[in-house]
Amino acid sequence: MRNVISLLLAVAGVSAQRTIQWQFVQSNTSGVIPVELITISPTLMLMYDRADGNPLLLPNGETAWAALWNLETNTPTPISSITDTFCAGGAFISNGTLVSVAGQPLEDPTRPPADGRMGIRLFGPCTSPTGQGQGCTVFEDPPNIHLAVTRWYPTGLRIPDGSLMIIGGSNTNTFYNNDTTAESSIEFFPSRPGEAGTVRLSPFLVAAQPVNLFPRSFVLPSGKIFVVANNISMIYDIETNTETRLPEIPNGVRIANPFDGTAQLLPLSPPLYEPTVLVCGGSDADDRRPVTNLTTQDPASNQCSRITLTAAGVARGWQVERMPEQRILMESVLLPTGDVLLINGAHTGYSGYPSVGNSNVNGSNSNNPAFRGMLYRTAFPAGQRITQEGIPASNIARMYHSSAALTPQGNIMVAGSNPHPAVVPPPTAFPTEFRVEYLNPDFITNNLPRPVIHSAPTQILFNQKATMTVTVPPSLLLGQIKVSLMDMGYITHAQHSNSRLVFLEHTLVGNKLTITAPPNNNIYPPGPAWIFVVADGVHSEGAMVMVGDGGNPPRLDQGVKISSTSL
Ligand SMILES: *[C@@H]1O[C@H](CO)[C@@H](O)[C@H](O)[C@H]1NC(C)=O
Ligand SMILES: *[C@@H]1O[C@H](CO)[C@@H](O)[C@H](O)[C@H]1NC(C)=O
Ligand SMILES: *[C@@H]1O[C@H](CO)[C@@H](O)[C@H](O)[C@H]1NC(C)=O
Ligand SMILES: *[C@@H]1O[C@H](CO)[C@@H](O)[C@H](O)[C@H]1NC(C)=O
Ligand SMILES: *[C@@H]1O[C@H](CO)[C@@H](O)[C@H](O)[C@H]1NC(C)=O
Ligand SMILES: *[C@@H]1O[C@H](CO)[C@@H](O)[C@H](O)[C@H]1NC(C)=O
Repeated sequence: MRNVISLLLAVAGVSAQRTIQWQFVQSNTSGVIPVELITISPTLMLMYDRADGNPLLLPNGETAWAALWNLETNTPTPISSITDTFCAGGAFISNGTLVSVAGQPLEDPTRPPADGRMGIRLFGPCTSPTGQGQGCTVFEDPPNIHLAVTRWYPTGLRIPDGSLMIIGGSNTNTFYNNDTTAESSIEFFPSRPGEAGTVRLSPFLVAAQPVNLFPRSFVLPSGKIFVVANNISMIYDIETNTETRLPEIPNGVRIANPFDGTAQLLPLSPPLYEPTVLVCGGSDADDRRPVTNLTTQDPASNQCSRITLTAAGVARGWQVERMPEQRILMESVLLPTGDVLLINGAHTGYSGYPSVGNSNVNGSNSNNPAFRGMLYRTAFPAGQRITQEGIPASNIARMYHSSAALTPQGNIMVAGSNPHPAVVPPPTAFPTEFRVEYLNPDFITNNLPRPVIHSAPTQILFNQKATMTVTVPPSLLLGQIKVSLMDMGYITHAQHSNSRLVFLEHTLVGNKLTITAPPNNNIYPPGPAWIFVVADGVHSEGAMVMVGDGGNPPRLDQGVKISSTSL
């Protein structure tokens, strides 16, 4: 009977079509700018910044450049860092430790070791929800552990053996990344056998200059790495150190920093886990134009492109869709439903500190802030996926150095924005922004019944079954039930690296939900994750879980091989 009803609803085109009626809620101020925003425990968000005039102070009176944002009290607690975390990259690794790498040279020589560009910072894991000193291992910058080379704006990616791959970057603050400034190479933490202190040069990253900072990268179900930067993309094989070029993004659209578009690996579903990558926004400006010839009024791109990374998908190439608005510096937040929220950014201009021709006027490289988000409905047919209906507008400009992240409560934390190299208060066109907002789906705003997770495993082993206790409100039982295993990512500069959603196989009998963990390390690289239960488009709060044995990297594959069409 239920199948008949859902079939009828599906035929009528209504089953997947929930009314969208979201709402912004204003919270307190963050005290530091969350240039990097990472969900680290059920109640804590880690925010990394630089220490140039932040109002939040450490107990010793110094300005803080990092803080833990408590989602229950809506207050920041300053945390200290030895090396400068500004514009770093990172990921959780297989033992649950968050690793943040690279950053800027330290301007305060009283806090050695001076060079944040080689910094490797280990944080956590947080075993209790209450925060620093009460469950999170204190922030460490181990004195003898550092990168092989100096990097700013690199990508950090957790790979199938649970360690960190560090991709690209520059050795100095630059708009365009050229032969002198670029660190067009790859290294690993921990380093691979025989590679300590060395890097692997990447011809792809060289070809992607001068628009190749924070290369957007994802682990594919084959265990290989997809990378897109500037208007080119490739698949990288870690084991053989080979690069295979893929089709270029159509129409000259470029998406890495300083032409920041955003990218997501769309949800992976059993049994084939076919990977599709979505890239949205950025700019189609000619990257040979000198920086002083670019302007804050140059239109951003309204293009979204997606490609399925199978032989057939690559033969079809990138499929283009148009957003209702042009966007640069836009964040993409993968939601437990599998949809993607596109939010923040500007309609015109570029990333980076004031450097384009007329940027002195407002102290910003971008202009015309985008106030209203868009929802990319992944499962809808092409041409109907992107909607702004029911998505509210904020009145806060959130452009360079803003961020947006999914919280364990299932809403979206939206924070930051600072086009300037230091804190600039009002009055100015785009002041440094400390106000935090939450974007709440209608079921949170109206306190409607949601699926509730009563108990969940704290650890799941690859390809093994586990049980959870859940309540799904009867009103939602008619719709489709999904179980989403997610990494919420390491968010910075429109880049959500490690963001990932794997739909789990499951059976629900009464309140007992039996789930099957991902088949192997390639589908979900071993490390921390969040489980959400989604019923008829309404998601529960997330439950934190360790995927895999939780050991230090590198981990051997702990699961079973599957036949996958993934390249
Ligand atoms: C802001 O923080 C204060 C504590 O400093 C707290 O009492 C208040 O509820 C918070 N406001 C909001 C909107 O969460
Ligand atoms: C490379 O970039 C740096 C920093 O932006 C700049 O000083 C230098 O002149 C550039 N070099 C070339 C060859 O363009
Ligand atoms: C990609 O960019 C290069 C130069 O930067 C350009 O020559 C090429 O035509 C672009 N590709 C596409 C598909 O637009
Ligand atoms: C600067 O831009 C203008 C128009 O956009 C163009 O005509 C001119 O050739 C550009 N100059 C350089 C040096 O790129
Ligand atoms: C400066 O900002 C104002 C307000 O957003 C805008 O109207 C103006 O065009 C901007 N000027 C430039 C050069 O970006
Ligand atoms: C996690 O692994 C890293 C890399 O091996 C190691 O440096 C770190 O100490 C480990 N963390 C914990 C909590 O064991």
